[in-house]
Amino acid sequence: MLKCPVLLNSKTGFVLLPHTTIAIYIMGLLQGKKGIIFGALNEQSIAWRVALKAKEQGATFTLTNAPVALRFGSIQQLGEQCDATVIPADATKEADLKALFEQSQTVLGGKIDFVLHSIGMSPNVRKKRPYTKLNYKFYSQTIDVSAMSLHKVLQAAYQQDALNEWASVVALSYIAAQRTFPGYNDMADAKAMLESIARSFGYHYGIKNKVRINTVSQSPTLTTAGSGIKGFDDFFNYAEKMSPLGNASADSCADFCITLFSDFTRMLTMQNLYHDGGFSSMGMSPAFVGQ
Ligand code: NAI
Repeated sequence: MLKCPVLLNSKTGFVLLPHTTIAIYIMGLLQGKKGIIFGALNEQSIAWRVALKAKEQGATFTLTNAPVALRFGSIQQLGEQCDATVIPADATKEADLKALFEQSQTVLGGKIDFVLHSIGMSPNVRKKRPYTKLNYKFYSQTIDVSAMSLHKVLQAAYQQDALNEWASVVALSYIAAQRTFPGYNDMADAKAMLESIARSFGYHYGIKNKVRINTVSQSPTLTTAGSGIKGFDDFFNYAEKMSPLGNASADSCADFCITLFSDFTRMLTMQNLYHDGGFSSMGMSPAFVGQ
């Protein structure tokens, strides 16, 4: 660590900084932190981008995905790149999650500081069933995989006291939880439940252990899950035009998640945070008037 509280800034010259800030600049925002990252399937996955940034910022972590995704995806390659152990776990199975937290603590040498829940899947969307003709078995699977899995992850951690004080849990959501986006189908209901779980568990884990739980409501993003949604390309372009800053990319979403895992956002919990280039605050955009 530098002894002297100055950094050389190429534009403004020398800047005075406290020692702690200097240490963080040199060592990384997540230096010394241990995490579990769910949901990296391929290079487009938001979780993949988060893993690369977390590594860059000094974290150590395990990677996990459903056993079937481990067979078809390229997560092992990411594991090698990040020096991370890959542990299979179906996020709907309590036994898998219990084992995942146990193994992660053994591999990482202690309790966990951050968890990314980046999981979503709807059989109704996959099979192109409209919202007015849902298959209810599929509907329960959508809810189980995309929402209840967050509760299962948190309960597994809570029951074995696997998270450190001030640990941060982030789950990815979408604005269809608040407003109607017809093509998003039953995933909208799952996201509403996901955000509610973040608030409800955020209370219980906050008073138990100061653990914070938030959801990030991300712009449409070109990934495997995103492109499964009906009319995704049209919608992606619409959101791009509607948002003053344009759509947020997977990389910028990863940057945001890193700040939420860091100690700079310690008092933030039980929130749904829009990371969408301003889309959620727009009513009308001149970009569409007269078209
Ligand atoms: P992705 O398809 O790369 O990631 C989804 C992941 O969920 C995959 O890795 C998949 O294997 C995993 N998964 C599915 N079932 C599972 C199970 N039973 N157990 C464990 N893992 C399971 O797509 P993306 O876009 O990176 O999705 C990540 C999150 O971001 C999801 O929650 C998605 O709803 C959310 N999101 C995505 C947006 C987009 O436009 N792509 C926009 C807003 C939110």
